[in-house]
Amino acid sequence: MAQIELHDVCLSYFTLKQETEAIRDINMSIAAGEFISIVGPSGCGKSTMLSLISGMYKPTKGTVLIDGQQVSGTSPKVGYMLQHDHLFEWRDILSNLLVGAEIRKMDLRQAERKAMELMERYGLGGFAHHSPAQLSGGMRQRVALIRTLVTEPDILLLDEPFSALDYQTRLTLADEIFSIIKDQGKTAILVTHDISEAISMADRVLVMSKRPSTISSVYKIELDEGTGLSPWKKREASRYNDYFNHIWRELEGHVVTAG
Ligand SMILES: Nc1ncnc2c1ncn2[C@@H]1O[C@H](COP(=O)(O)OP(=O)(O)OP(=O)(O)O)[C@@H](O)[C@H]1O
Ligand SMILES: [Mg+2]
Repeated sequence: MAQIELHDVCLSYFTLKQETEAIRDINMSIAAGEFISIVGPSGCGKSTMLSLISGMYKPTKGTVLIDGQQVSGTSPKVGYMLQHDHLFEWRDILSNLLVGAEIRKMDLRQAERKAMELMERYGLGGFAHHSPAQLSGGMRQRVALIRTLVTEPDILLLDEPFSALDYQTRLTLADEIFSIIKDQGKTAILVTHDISEAISMADRVLVMSKRPSTISSVYKIELDEGTGLSPWKKREASRYNDYFNHIWRELEGHVVTAG
């Protein structure tokens, strides 16, 4: 059974001055454990898609289902990771990791145990009582991911999580985040402007058109024949350039006609 389903989903934003039709008639189905990347022109509605899946926004028309149930608000099943890490500078790392658990009124002793275990496992052991300012940009984003994992969601929504980082850090962190997500067996949806990143991390890449946005194509990415290559290694696979060129051309078309 599909874990996430969107059926004829439309969303328009209404302000006093105007109506903005962001997305129109989106249909898609995502299986548990799948990694999906979404690319599309700026302002087409990628973040809107994530907001709909997270339950922060309600579709103007259509339905969003998670595990067969209609989404009607935010849920602990879904975790969100954003471009900026939003760590609280006055809290140490451990206490930052517990923010989500506090908001959700979870058992804090259990959450702390989980946070310590995740820090140890994913290269942040020994940093529990450091302040965010003492960490590099890449480490801070790892903290942001672990903070999301502490609340044990099944689905992770990643909205341009690497875009504020320098290129080198971005490549390393993509590998690290990918291996954490696979290790934890989560379903992930990544929004990115970086086509290489989209291809190297995903099982499928969805290309969205300009607004009102629809899914214009879906690319099934087959680069490692199930051998579990890292995103970095997948960039060296022979078919990688074909995917890149196809998606590049398609996006160029959307941008050129966007007017
Ligand atoms: N809260 C809001 N109220 C009104 N309009 C909005 C709101 N949020 C987004 N929009 C508009 O809806 C459209 C889609 O926005 P969205 O943020 O989903 O695009 P995006 O693809 O994530 O863009 P980017 O690539 O720049 O991150 C844009 O035209 C945007 O201006
Ligand atoms: Mg966005």
